[in-house]
Amino acid sequence: MRKFETRNAYFDKLCNTPGLMWLGQNTNHFDPHPSVREAVIEALDGGEYHAYAPPVGFEELRALVKEDMGLPDASVLVTDGAVEALYNVCSNICAPGTDFVTTDPSWAWPMHFARKAGANVIELPIYDAAQGYKLTVEQLRAAVTPNTRVIYLVDPNNPLGTCHTEDEIRAIADIARSVGAYLIHDATYCHFADSFTPALRFYPEKTIVTYSFSKWLGLAGMRLGAVLASADIIEMLATAPPNNLGSNVLSQRAAIAGLRTKGDWFPEIFRRQRRNQAEVARAASAIAGFSVPVYPSQANLLIVETVEAGLRPEALVAAYQEKGVMIRQGAYHTKRFGDRFVKVSLTVPEAWADRFCELLPSMAERARKIDVPADFF
Ligand SMILES: Cc1ncc(COP(=O)(O)O)c(C=O)c1O
Repeated sequence: MRKFETRNAYFDKLCNTPGLMWLGQNTNHFDPHPSVREAVIEALDGGEYHAYAPPVGFEELRALVKEDMGLPDASVLVTDGAVEALYNVCSNICAPGTDFVTTDPSWAWPMHFARKAGANVIELPIYDAAQGYKLTVEQLRAAVTPNTRVIYLVDPNNPLGTCHTEDEIRAIADIARSVGAYLIHDATYCHFADSFTPALRFYPEKTIVTYSFSKWLGLAGMRLGAVLASADIIEMLATAPPNNLGSNVLSQRAAIAGLRTKGDWFPEIFRRQRRNQAEVARAASAIAGFSVPVYPSQANLLIVETVEAGLRPEALVAAYQEKGVMIRQGAYHTKRFGDRFVKVSLTVPEAWADRFCELLPSMAERARKIDVPADFF
């Protein structure tokens, strides 16, 4: 079977497993605010979906996204998820023979897009307690040259859950400017940080912020995201985008409702996912050889190290899968460090997080005996 078929069958099986506990993709499984549900139903019943939405998004949504990010001067392009935003951005700004600098771990898809556009991908290792599991300013300065066309920074980082300070972001923006590079600031997880600083504030000419509705609002299956950048950059991205007929109307209505009411309900989501983090951190630290290197995480996830226990992350993932719980192996994110950890996503009902914790001792035992399946995604 072709690889795409195997991968699809794998995810199709997960999607069709009744009651699966999704602790692997950082998606948000809490019930939405009633206004979000009502907005979708109203748009559905009103038949709004018969028409195409405006090409760069409903004006109200564009304004609300700017407000949410505290970037009043930015221009906004609404996209079919952050991943489509990243595809469009990478296709436009990556160039053959130029360097695309990112971290290791980072998020893999933009690296594929950059390679497809002919760029050399440079991954700077950040999986190191001595540097706080973050890119350092010195590391980045030493890596960039006039041939650096793009710096791609996932901040807060998926999978590590670390987030840069304002001073660090300012310094990173200065480095990008010093070589004339574009700075893609992937802010998919920014809503889960105690404090987040968009680089666009310091380097408006060439910073591109990518934004997602999958994680904080829970619209992963409804595919909605955005890009925030200067009007010049949005003009370039809007010239020949992958989808120029407007993003899903129902999703945009849901997002507008979610942003309008966010202050009323999101603090509770934040609290609940931090509560889940605390429970998982406690359960992991009770097992010999397990540890939680970054806590509290500034994203809706935690990494749990298994390496000192002599366990393969894939074996632990397979053990949990037998129990209807999906978690993710480190190799999904990084070849270099992927044998060290699993990732657990925590914008999920407390009962799911507690089930993960309750199973952990027996799963750690089971993982020692399991045959690791060949196909893992
Ligand atoms: C760092 C990062 N960027 C972008 C995305 C894609 O987000 P979306 O669901 O909005 O396409 C993800 C999804 O996991 C991610 O982890």
